This record gives sequence, C-alpha cells and structure tokens, in this order.
Amino acid sequence: MRTYTNNSALQSAIRGYRDSGQTIAFVPTMGNLHEGHLDLVRKAHELADIVVVSIFVNPLQFGANEDLDGYPRTLAADKEKLFSEGTQVLYAPDVSQIYPEGMAAQTQVRVPDLADTLCGSSRPGHFDGVTTVVTKLFNIVQPDVAVFGEKDFQQLSIIRKMVNDLCMPVRIIGAPTARADDGLALSSRNGYLNNDQRRIAPLIHETLANCREAIACGFDNFLQLESHARMRLLQAGFEPDYFAIRDARTLRDVTEETEEIAILAAARLGKTRLIDNVRLSLNPVSDWGMLAGH
Ligand code: PAF
Repeated sequence: MRTYTNNSALQSAIRGYRDSGQTIAFVPTMGNLHEGHLDLVRKAHELADIVVVSIFVNPLQFGANEDLDGYPRTLAADKEKLFSEGTQVLYAPDVSQIYPEGMAAQTQVRVPDLADTLCGSSRPGHFDGVTTVVTKLFNIVQPDVAVFGEKDFQQLSIIRKMVNDLCMPVRIIGAPTARADDGLALSSRNGYLNNDQRRIAPLIHETLANCREAIACGFDNFLQLESHARMRLLQAGFEPDYFAIRDARTLRDVTEETEEIAILAAARLGKTRLIDNVRLSLNPVSDWGMLAGH
C-alpha cells in the first residue's frame, strides 16, 4: 500500500494506474476505521482494479461546539487495517493540502433543501462542509466509482444529488450499514459511550425496526409513530434530536408517489450524538393508496 500526503504525488500515481488501463474506486473516510469502513473498502475492491482510501478529518464539516479536536485519530492502526484489506493507495492529506488558503476563503458546494432538513437543521453548515470536501476529493482522485455507507443516509442522498446536479463523472454506490450483534450501527463515535450508554445505545435501532414493522403491518398514523418513538428514546435516557418517517428519495414527507420509506433518527446519549436509519420498500401493487391517505 502506498501512502500519499501530497495532492500532486497522489495524482501522478493515479495517472499511472489510469494509463495502464486500470479503474479506480474511492472510499473517503475520516479515519478511526472499523468494520463498517472495511465493508466499504471490500465493496470498492469488487468495483474497480485500484482502491484509493482517504483519511481526512474535515474541519469544515464540524460546528463550533462539535468534537473536531477530540475526534479519534488513529492513523497507524488504520493503515494496518487497510493494508490487510489489500488497499493499494491511502491518501492522508493534512489540512493545509485541502484548504491551502484557509477555510474562510474556500469556495463551497451546497445542495439546497436536502442539506437543510434532519441533521442539517441541527448541524447548520455540516453538509456544506461534506459536499465541499467530497467535491475536492473527487477532483483530486478522479475515481470511476465512490462508495459511501448507508448509515449516513442523508449524506449519501446529498452526495447522489450533488453528483447528478453537477454532472460529476463518478458512480456513487451505497453500502449497507454494518452493525454490532446487538444492532447498534458501527460508528467512530460509539467509542465515546461509557458502559451504561453502550448498553442502552442499541435501542435506537430497535425503535427504528419496530416502527418499520408497524408501518409494514399497515399502521399509517406516522405522527403518532414518530412521537411514540421519540418518547421511548427519551424515557430510556436519550435526548432525541429527530425521529422522522420520510420518502427515501426526497427525504420529505411520504406521499402517494413514495416508493421507499426511510425512517431516520438522531439522538444524544450524554455527549455522543448517534444516528441511524432503516428503510422499507413499498410494493406498488399493495394497498399503499390507503396508507398514503393517513
Ligand atoms: O462520512 C464521512 O466520514 C465524512 O463525512 C466524509 C464523507 C469522509 C467527508 O468528510
């Protein structure tokens, strides 16, 4: 595995791969790699000849009171994991490579609407930071395909829209959420949880799964489902940010046109903010007309 910290060295290596006819799959990460990230890397290997992984804790996507300074940085361990997965290229730039003129001077990429709802309401500017850095990384790496986790479902939707709207020549692939045996979605932030919080944390997935089951069984009062779920999380010790039943494509309210529902939640346990989601496909020949009329 070759590691680059410098854009032009990375780009000349990638040109070499391309000149010899090889395709490039890209997995952008912020490091502190766990099985969820490694699943993305494995998926990337299925999709192209060369896998490039980036590790960059992007300051532009952290709010003023968020965990930028404390965000786990574990480069040596990450390198070993990537090496074991057969990753050919690691790109680990520092902040001055990505933002040479500082962040205030940086041109930004913004996806309207989708970036303003759900996590976007409670983390203003967060997704602008994500879309800006992902655009830069795409321009530096110029991959054929890029793999993102479905755990960050809103992020994945925003990136798909950005790529589509800006005619970026990269295929976006979503990979299923990796979970611990008790259902908790794997996340670098799980490491912040103390033992008690870790014990309670899987309830977020259980509540999402129960909600999906209720909808699948025909329960169509979404407001009631959402408020019941929020109450359940609150009583267990979470501070729910949102629990929302949405159209998986638009992330707006479910309508008669909805083909897939996404149920998304964000909640704090102590200082740790956890997010998760589940989805439910709607069979177009089912009684969905009745459900949508809720
Ligand atoms: O999902 C992440 O880890 C980050 O948001 C990403 C896509 C690497 C951009 O910094």
